[in-house]
Amino acid sequence: MFRRPRRNRSTAAIRNMVQETHLLVDHLVYPLFLVDGENIREEVTSLPGNYRLSIDEAERTVAEGLNMGLSNYILFPSIAESLKDKRATHSYDPNNFYLKAAQQLKKAFPDTTLISDVAMDPYSSDGHDGLVIEGKIINDETLPILVQMSLAQAQAGFDILGPSDMMDGRVGAIREALDQGGYHDTGIMSYTAKYASAYYGPFRDALDSAPKDGDKKTYQMNPANVREALIEAALDTAEGADFLMVKPALHYLDVIKSLRDHSDLPIAAYHVSGECAMLIAASKNGWLDYEQAMPEVLLSIRRAGADVIITYFAMDMARRLGD
Ligand code: PBG
Repeated sequence: MFRRPRRNRSTAAIRNMVQETHLLVDHLVYPLFLVDGENIREEVTSLPGNYRLSIDEAERTVAEGLNMGLSNYILFPSIAESLKDKRATHSYDPNNFYLKAAQQLKKAFPDTTLISDVAMDPYSSDGHDGLVIEGKIINDETLPILVQMSLAQAQAGFDILGPSDMMDGRVGAIREALDQGGYHDTGIMSYTAKYASAYYGPFRDALDSAPKDGDKKTYQMNPANVREALIEAALDTAEGADFLMVKPALHYLDVIKSLRDHSDLPIAAYHVSGECAMLIAASKNGWLDYEQAMPEVLLSIRRAGADVIITYFAMDMARRLGD
């Protein structure tokens, strides 16, 4: 036997020398669920270890993260039912606590990267990402709403906007409005290939944002498709996206790989709530070892080709990387 691949696995130092993929804290983004109020830290039942946070509590979490070198945060609002309406008007209301939270966090921690969520669902009485008229999600009439929301978020100081709505043409509409408004430096991380997945359950519990009627299959992608992701990628690139995102991540590693192979833009992967919840649940049952399995999962997403990973494990991983 001349070839013995095991030779390169024989000591820790050799294994480290030939390691192909690395995971740094710089690659991670931590999602924060925000609620209006003070002193609120409510655990999300279906996503243990993650919380709905009031701004003061979010500041504490970000300070803790920054201490471990975790700079990147994606913020999602939990909006009171009474503030929701058909056209998501509260999303650009200057009194919206989410916009104030971004302002406050950016002021307290100028070195963070704050990423927003652009979609109607947290603010929509229909619970859909677009405008619903007679049971249909209307694409083109949704765009000006998303644009207004985006301008308010850019003004609040978000570094990067995250359109998660999957309407056609929204990246271009947002980019144009940002440029006209003087927000040339505000980036766009587009949810390029966002699938109609069953793995968003805990997130919808956290924000109480599930659709009131029907599902999201006329705008989110069919889990069976990968070529279609390349069509979305080409459009988002042409429309000015700075990052292309695949969501979910773990069940869509081939899509991440495909976008990586076809695009020169940074690829982000959203390791979604349900994917994290599976591992948490199995670990709580003693069926999997969280400490071992968690980094393996994140490394797999990197290996598939993701530059950036949005994950509910970011804090835990940052802690481990610091140790
Ligand atoms: C909504 C949005 C969703 C997620 C991020 N933005 C849910 C949905 O599309 O229904 C899911 C994230 C997760 O599950 O962690 N625009």
